[in-house]
Amino acid sequence: MAEQSKLSLGGKDYDYPIIKGSVGPDVIDIRKLYGQTGAFTFDPGFTSTAACESALTYIDGDEGVLLHRGYPIGQLAEQSSFMEVSYLLLNGELPSGRELEEFSRTISRHTMLHEQLMSFYSGFRRDAHPMAIMCGVVGALSAFYHDSTDIADPKHRKISSHRLIAKMPTIAAAAYKYSVGQPFMYPDNRLSYTGNFLRMTFGVPAEDYEVIPEIERAMDRIFILHADHEQNASTSTVRLAGSSGANPFACIAAGIACLWGPAHGGANEAALNMLREIGTPDRIPHYIERAKDKNDPFRLMGFGHRVYKNYDPRATVMQKTVREVFDAMKVSDPVFETALRLEEIALHDPYFVEKKLFPNVDFYSGIILSAIGFPTTMFTVLFALARTVGWVAQWNEMISDPNQKIGRPRQLYTGPTERDYVPIGKR
Ligand code: ACO
Repeated sequence: MAEQSKLSLGGKDYDYPIIKGSVGPDVIDIRKLYGQTGAFTFDPGFTSTAACESALTYIDGDEGVLLHRGYPIGQLAEQSSFMEVSYLLLNGELPSGRELEEFSRTISRHTMLHEQLMSFYSGFRRDAHPMAIMCGVVGALSAFYHDSTDIADPKHRKISSHRLIAKMPTIAAAAYKYSVGQPFMYPDNRLSYTGNFLRMTFGVPAEDYEVIPEIERAMDRIFILHADHEQNASTSTVRLAGSSGANPFACIAAGIACLWGPAHGGANEAALNMLREIGTPDRIPHYIERAKDKNDPFRLMGFGHRVYKNYDPRATVMQKTVREVFDAMKVSDPVFETALRLEEIALHDPYFVEKKLFPNVDFYSGIILSAIGFPTTMFTVLFALARTVGWVAQWNEMISDPNQKIGRPRQLYTGPTERDYVPIGKR
């Protein structure tokens, strides 16, 4: 019999089984709690609640560990490719050479968009935020690919997953092209997933585009670092949307909307804007004081994390990648020196030490993306592009789970109790 935990409520004792994962904290199975006691649990930010079972990604926030299907993120970022990590997340195991080739070929066959979909872009203002365009265009995919929206059919699920991963770079690059008034670039499937994206973003039809291998590698690594991150806000949004049986294109659009927020995917944009605002290292102490002031809403963007109470392992790889990109592009950016100094000062400041606030993945990513040539408004779009594989893998895992139910949280009601309606003339 499973180990039990005891709860005393209203003078009665109840037993709830403890379930063990392969690694990480145990969970107390409270599914029968309400039926047996009439009480709910209260955990608004899900700080102590496991909302599902998952075999995809494991994070130990205290130790700064991130594993995908058991493989450490550092090893994947150094030795693997985004296509391989995508295969791993979707299928559970690393592919053989032949499997990877076949998977990459399948993805590249789906890179084009329905031509009619391209006319959506001209409906947006030129100065629209590209994340607004992403929400709209990705949501619209379900109006174009009816032949892969039957979520009960595993073949449909597979095709829609491949379509989402394959089309996201084309959609993202077109959002950028629209904002700068350049013609859309069609995909060139002779290139890698990431090379193709760089060409669609920075190439123009009038000239040949040469992919710089070091930049392609850095971009691919950034995609790996963002591929999945367990049950974060946008992934939970995708799962919740999917739990009602909504089609995958609609679910991923919901995930994109959630990711846009500055506390989540929008933080990379906010982090670079903050570093540019700070400008020079001598101004850092002023901003550190502001971050610590409870009466000032300012926070150090790119610092702190709900799960990591240690250095985010993705930030380590990111910091290293900054130097590689600068070397490849023969550029530098004084903002990097400001970032390094800010990190050093914060990591020695009792406020940040006590609250265990460390740089997260977003702290350095903006510096790299800016050096590659992306405007800040595209940063969260790149995050969405990469995270699509995690969302899709998590969505597939949820749909295949026999215990899957519609997500329906309860609440602690604090509003008025029942009262009679008063006609408007008598109020
Ligand atoms: N700067 C200053 N103080 C901070 C910061 C920060 N970046 N982050 C947290 N704190 C403080 C809070 O004021 C709070 O202090 P208190 O206990 O005295 O009230 C304490 O640390 C805990 O913070 P919470 O907001 O309660 O922690 P939570 O886990 O809810 O928030 C979050 C995590 C949202 C990431 C937060 O650290 C933050 O806002 N960081 C800046 C935004 C950011 O970088 N987001 C990217 C996250 S990574 C990602 O999405 C890919």
